[in-house]
Amino acid sequence: MAHADYIMQLIRCDTELRELFSRNAVEIACLGGGPGSDLLGILKYMMQAGVRDTCLTCYIFDKERAWGDSWSDIARVLKPPFSVYPIFQQMDVTDSVTWKSYQKFLRADLFTLSYFLSEVWRIRNQAKPFFSHCMSQMKKGSMVLFVDNNSSQFVDWFDELAKHNGLNTVREGSCMLAFSNDEETKDLGPYFDKFGWPKRKSDVAYRIMRKA
Ligand SMILES: C[S@@+](CC[C@H](N)C(=O)[O-])C[C@H]1O[C@@H](n2cnc3c(N)ncnc32)[C@H](O)[C@@H]1O
Repeated sequence: MAHADYIMQLIRCDTELRELFSRNAVEIACLGGGPGSDLLGILKYMMQAGVRDTCLTCYIFDKERAWGDSWSDIARVLKPPFSVYPIFQQMDVTDSVTWKSYQKFLRADLFTLSYFLSEVWRIRNQAKPFFSHCMSQMKKGSMVLFVDNNSSQFVDWFDELAKHNGLNTVREGSCMLAFSNDEETKDLGPYFDKFGWPKRKSDVAYRIMRKA
């Protein structure tokens, strides 16, 4: 819930990201986006901004195969005033056999990396070829939205990958982000009574980049 809301807030604050959603068609690739937070954040932005008549194609890449089922029905459940085509693609960043043959996602207009580099930081040497492949092969003008824990090890790794693969900074920063008050506490059911309001603020670093 929080990660989705951060994605929504970061898109809402940036003119160049907002512009993507005024197009007739937009393609997104969510790397490590299996649980769906990245897609939900994007959908939340689009629905709140009143986007209509856009065709959103969303490639979701993740190691966990079971996430695939969750996203195939999202358009039918949400009934947004635009078209949504989620495409789940299972892969393991450490194994090029699982990702080398995926090609279409490289033409995406926006790549999201939400709390993904911190997840695979421990295996960064094996994971690096995947990120270098994506960043070097993405089309000119593609945008990248990175958000993660504000810790220099993750941010420095992202910055190094971006620098070596021709990504220019549109906007960068770090801040305490709180998720929006419109998130529905009732959705937490018995857990809200048991644990109270969940952690509301995170120390995040973010980067909005464009491929040169
Ligand atoms: C911390 S979660 C972030 C999920 C989502 N992007 C978000 O912001 O909530 C990290 C994701 O990375 C995936 N993951 C972990 N190791 C991976 C690997 N080796 N290859 C691909 N995905 C992996 C996990 O299955 C998980 O969905």
